[in-house]
Amino acid sequence: EAVAPPSESNKYVLSLAHRGASGFAPENTLSAFDLAVRLKADYLELDVQMSKDGHLVVIHDTMVNRTTDGEGKVKNLTFDQLRSLDAGMWFDPFFAGERIPAFGEILDRYRGRIGMVIEIKQPELYPGIEEKIAGELAARGMHAPDGDSVIVQSFDLRALRHFHTLLPFVPLGLLISRASDSTDRRLDEFAKLVRFVNPVRNLVNESLIDRIHARGMSAFVWPIRKRKYVNGLIADGVDGLITDYPDVVTSARNGW
Ligand code: G3P
Ligand code: CA
Repeated sequence: EAVAPPSESNKYVLSLAHRGASGFAPENTLSAFDLAVRLKADYLELDVQMSKDGHLVVIHDTMVNRTTDGEGKVKNLTFDQLRSLDAGMWFDPFFAGERIPAFGEILDRYRGRIGMVIEIKQPELYPGIEEKIAGELAARGMHAPDGDSVIVQSFDLRALRHFHTLLPFVPLGLLISRASDSTDRRLDEFAKLVRFVNPVRNLVNESLIDRIHARGMSAFVWPIRKRKYVNGLIADGVDGLITDYPDVVTSARNGW
């Protein structure tokens, strides 16, 4: 089917692999992240939570039930218990043996190879998670990342404010999913702190993207699971697409 080219055809739109290349491999695992690198995504997007004994792990849900063979809350399981779970089998037996990654393992494996958008997930459940994330970054000299190679994002503005006091040079992104967060007044407030306002797809139109840009911020939109949305969003002026299928963005770019 012929698709009209985007109007801002010279703009390079970033491909951000949502929980890794999670359309093709189990989300938030080394397989999904490795595949995102091979598909030439610009960034990995990953979700960070904390074990009962205070270790940072990469998993989306606050419970392990959907994406592992275990059950219970992440915060009630120790790091060893979390690491003993199979995080690949639920997706396909081919991925049996995948583990929930440790956050530090992801930093060590991918730094310098691909950008990382690190989401502080449900921070209200994990007092001190901002300090732990900041500590892992600082321990690797990643407290003042080159360009935007590391971005910390959250739905929780308070957690971002807190994080900013710890590592003020790490660029921040606010995830928004409510129309009430897309008013000029709210955007003015966000612009004092964050470099990125990352809206859910249903909120996006050209006016919102223009108003984000007018305040010096950029916009990554999510979730993108279908090719048909890509060119329209690019025409709206978005800066990046957070997608389960990073190839839909990289192949759209090749077609220009
Ligand atoms: O990065 C955007 C997206 O990850 C936010 O939603 O639920 O997939 O973490 P969720
Ligand atoms: Ca996320």
